[in-house]
Amino acid sequence: MPFYATSNPYIADSYAQIIIRFFQDTISLPTYSDQEPIYILEMGTGTGMFSYHLIKKLLTLQQDLNLSHVKWQYIMSDIVSGNLDFWETQPNLRPYIEAGYIDFAIYDAEKNNKIQLKRSQLILTDKTFSNPLIAIANYVFDSLRHDFCYIKAGEIQIGMVNPILEIDNNINNQGMDIRAIDPEFHYSTVALPFYKQSVINNILAELRANVNNNHFILPIGPINCLENLLHMAKDQLLVLIADKGYSYSYENYKHAPTDIVIHHDAISLAVNFQALAQYTTLKKGSTYLSNGTFDINCAALLFGNNQPKFNETRTAINSQFERFNPGGLTRLHVFLNAYKQFSNPGLVLAQLNNTCWDTNVFNENLMILMQLTKHNTPYTLEDLYAILPKVANNFYYTPWAPDTLFNIGLLLQNLEDYQGAIDYYQRSISYFGRLTRQLHNMAICHYNLGQIEQARQLWYETLTLDSEHHEASGWLGYLTRYHNNWRAPKTEVSISIEK
Ligand SMILES: C[S@@+](CC[C@H](N)C(=O)[O-])C[C@H]1O[C@@H](n2cnc3c(N)ncnc32)[C@H](O)[C@@H]1O
Repeated sequence: MPFYATSNPYIADSYAQIIIRFFQDTISLPTYSDQEPIYILEMGTGTGMFSYHLIKKLLTLQQDLNLSHVKWQYIMSDIVSGNLDFWETQPNLRPYIEAGYIDFAIYDAEKNNKIQLKRSQLILTDKTFSNPLIAIANYVFDSLRHDFCYIKAGEIQIGMVNPILEIDNNINNQGMDIRAIDPEFHYSTVALPFYKQSVINNILAELRANVNNNHFILPIGPINCLENLLHMAKDQLLVLIADKGYSYSYENYKHAPTDIVIHHDAISLAVNFQALAQYTTLKKGSTYLSNGTFDINCAALLFGNNQPKFNETRTAINSQFERFNPGGLTRLHVFLNAYKQFSNPGLVLAQLNNTCWDTNVFNENLMILMQLTKHNTPYTLEDLYAILPKVANNFYYTPWAPDTLFNIGLLLQNLEDYQGAIDYYQRSISYFGRLTRQLHNMAICHYNLGQIEQARQLWYETLTLDSEHHEASGWLGYLTRYHNNWRAPKTEVSISIEK
């Protein structure tokens, strides 16, 4: 599943529309405390890109709906402490951190039943939560523990591995290829109760009575995670989930064991959303599944005795997940990318609007957008200029992020808006530092604006960064020849003077 599927502005928009309605329902509860924030816990946050999109949208909705008085706090959490270090210095998150909207936590989604906040030093437990909790699990449940099950003629079999597997770990600190390990996987018949958690035994008992000759995955880790969240939030909980998985009924399951997916050095499994729904029903909660079957699925699980009063939330979930949902968006995105040769600038502009101005859509279709003024299309520069700031506003910095701001600069340069291009190249510099790609293009823009001196300085700087940048050296040679009032400084950089 592409990382993009769970970290784009569209899915963040969908979740924000649900969360804002959940705020509305929560503040009308007699038990609501305006002394405490409503906590939003994102588990397995990864880069923080989803958090950025969600917080931005939530603040906009809060203002639009006159709900700015509702106190909330977003907890970005992960099991990897290096991720917290990254968020702390990430430039797009900084304003929200400084405004107090964000705290961080190391949180193991499978094991922890309290949250230790890093910035405020608060510890959140079942004793401290007074308002309902919102939890987000995007692309994380598939990384937790799952068991393989097979039910045949009332008999339950569970996939086992050799618990005392001996692995030659004398590998000089090198990574180990997990495909080379034979875990001695086999099925064993088990009797109930088999699991420590009675709710998992209950799920299996229900399945034993209702299905036959079915292989399926039992999401042990995700269920443990939900148990912990319910404990902390004293059952007042909304969980929003997006993951690769199955949401169809057991009768339609494959009658063969499910594959383990190994990518690079990680293992992941498809999440059994039906089992999560079964769990939710056993806990007297309600489940809302997006309409995917085996795909990127979204689910909302709503728990607690206040559910009947959560009309706003339910309406929002239905409208966000039933129609064009985040899973459908990913499918369409993959399709449109495969058939790019049939696209045109108008279609790309529509795609940008429909995806809430996704930077991926912009970057992947840059060449098509460059045809805007050359194409016979009713779309105009005005349409483009309305969209570009929104795309730029969705840029989230990671060291490996495609440089959307640079690409916007290129597009504007191509459209001969040289000052506009320079502004975006400057914004690219503010994230990525001064690199030859921005400097050389800024020099061309300045040259076209008649600002010869700025152009010369920038080409000179380009050459000092890369002495083999032939275009910069060619341009400097050209300037030396045709703009005689200037001489290149005497340095080691070579300037080629055209003959
Ligand atoms: C595939 S990434 C998803 C990142 C992000 N949520 C997204 O949608 O792009 C999975 C994330 O879950 C984290 N993770 C793995 N096991 C975890 C656990 N037991 N508890 C909390 N986070 C975990 C990983 O460190 C990683 O950041």
